[in-house]
Amino acid sequence: MKIGIAADHGGFDLKQIVVEMIKAEGYDVIDYGAHEYDKYDDYPDLIIPLAEGISKGEVQKGIAICGSGVGASIVANKVKNVRAALITETYSAHQGVEHDALNVICLGGRVIGQELAREIVFAFLNAEYTGEERHDRRLGKVNQLEDNWN
Ligand code: RB5
Repeated sequence: MKIGIAADHGGFDLKQIVVEMIKAEGYDVIDYGAHEYDKYDDYPDLIIPLAEGISKGEVQKGIAICGSGVGASIVANKVKNVRAALITETYSAHQGVEHDALNVICLGGRVIGQELAREIVFAFLNAEYTGEERHDRRLGKVNQLEDNWN
């Protein structure tokens, strides 16, 4: 599975740590930037390329980091086929995948420490969508909204 990651200046330090963590576990990672710390960068410029990577199937799961995780979550969800959520604990990190086919987690680089980030990231990466009928039905309703939106 290929993993995409992106962060603005608010998430830059945590991104560098998470990239090393997931590479150490053997994941193939595409880092969509920022590739250097720039206190003037804007989260949409970094998070949209990651979200498009998910949408096109270039990467299967994504990790989007800004200062709070809020901006990253808002912008990632504007891109078709992206199901992103701001995650602060491990239950939602795996249950979001199992029930809701969550494909992007958003983290707050100024909010969580690296050990909690590690647990959240691996809970997310190790989880699989269950495909149960009730979840498919709900996902179908979400997809219908996305398909019909003008
Ligand atoms: C950047 O200073 C900060 O506003 C941004 O990273 C993020 O927290 C937005 O949600």
